[in-house]
Amino acid sequence: MKIRAVRGMNDILPPEAKKWRRVEAVFRRVAERYGYGEVRTPLIEDTSLFSKQMGETSDVVEKEMYSFERHGDSLTVRPEGTAGAARAFVEHGVGAKEPVTRWYYLGPMFRGERPAKGRYRQFHQVGCELYGDPGPVSDAEMIELAYRFLEELGIGDLTVHLNSLGSGDTRARYRKALLDYFTPMAGSLSEDSQRRLEKNPLRILDSKDARDRDAAAKAPSIVDVLDEEDRRHFEGVKGALSAMGIPFVVDPALVRGLDYYTRTLFEIKANGADLGAQSTVCGGGRYDEMVESLGGHKTPAIGFAMGVERILVAMPEVAQDEAKASVYVVAVDERADAGAEPAPAGVSLQTAAALRLGSELRKRGIACLVDARGGKLKAMLKRADASGAKLCAILGADEISRREVTVKDLAAHAQDAVGLEGAAEVIAGRVRAKAGSQPAGVEH
Ligand code: HAM
Repeated sequence: MKIRAVRGMNDILPPEAKKWRRVEAVFRRVAERYGYGEVRTPLIEDTSLFSKQMGETSDVVEKEMYSFERHGDSLTVRPEGTAGAARAFVEHGVGAKEPVTRWYYLGPMFRGERPAKGRYRQFHQVGCELYGDPGPVSDAEMIELAYRFLEELGIGDLTVHLNSLGSGDTRARYRKALLDYFTPMAGSLSEDSQRRLEKNPLRILDSKDARDRDAAAKAPSIVDVLDEEDRRHFEGVKGALSAMGIPFVVDPALVRGLDYYTRTLFEIKANGADLGAQSTVCGGGRYDEMVESLGGHKTPAIGFAMGVERILVAMPEVAQDEAKASVYVVAVDERADAGAEPAPAGVSLQTAAALRLGSELRKRGIACLVDARGGKLKAMLKRADASGAKLCAILGADEISRREVTVKDLAAHAQDAVGLEGAAEVIAGRVRAKAGSQPAGVEH
């Protein structure tokens, strides 16, 4: 039986990988513009890091983690980046070294979800985490960063959904309000929700089960139980967003699926994309209690993560300059032409010259392919054309004896001879001239 990729895990082949690199490059650029530095944490962490932070009753921890035992440790392949980054923040005492820390990351995450378009078991996130600033302005700036990044990729028609979960007492009061509301109707809720009712009634609001949706829609709203401080914070976030020109809708039904959030919660949806239920490209929020619960000093924090696969679906197609070589270097080997075996001692003079020219071009930053596969010149030129290269450098026995290389402009069907000494410099100059708006610098 053929071995195939694991369900929900995808290969990314070169033309697609090019788009990925663009997303990653734009993300790095935008994040760095806001003062963020890259953090790289391990793919595998202690299972308890995720179960404690994301919450025992979250879908991710209950059903989706890739966990295993090794050398007596219980380990998990990371389902997200926030808990690992916070662990690293505490472990390296970063809070003592700087008042505010801004980190970004990108990389694969793993959740055993049911695969669908935009939902995979290995997926990729780009994300930001900010530690040390409790103020609502940092919440708004975080949302702005995410929004501008998506805009810069050409993704329009975005909606920012905003809510506040409150902090401390507010959450306890809201939990009680939900418990009072859901308990009388417990029998008609899904099994998952009945089980979670006592432990974490907030999860019911986030349930996708049709039996829970209606009840959840009519549940008491968190906005009604926010205390004065929470309310002021929320107003501050909204005010700062408006000042920055970021449109948003307040969405009291937004609870998000993870337990670590306090106060601000947000999601960004790409409405134009054909993503169905997976239109949420970005999710984030404040988590002011995580650092302390990991053994660090009390440190407010906020962050977001976006799914790269979803971004790619939402992104408009842009003309990709394909990874094509600019120069196709051919070694015309008469012996190979005649079907003879190549000299066992090594390579022909033409091949040696072609390899040297290839090395020299690449040193000058020019992408090239060296074709020393042999065959008739006509066949080689056909291959040169098919490669998409702009120029073809031909090295046959005649050229070698004259210490020259024939340079053919494949589009203009023009060719000339260039001295072999210094040929790389001349050819590189022509490639650059073609890449610019200048007309090709080939003398006919
Ligand atoms: P999350 O909402 O679980 O939050 O994931 C964030 C984003 O990752 C989602 O909005 C979605 O675009 C993408 N995503 C999640 N699961 C999948 C999947 N199975 N397949 C494809 N894409 C997926 C977090 O992960 C939090 N760590 C965000 C955060 C950072 N909160 C504070 N800081």
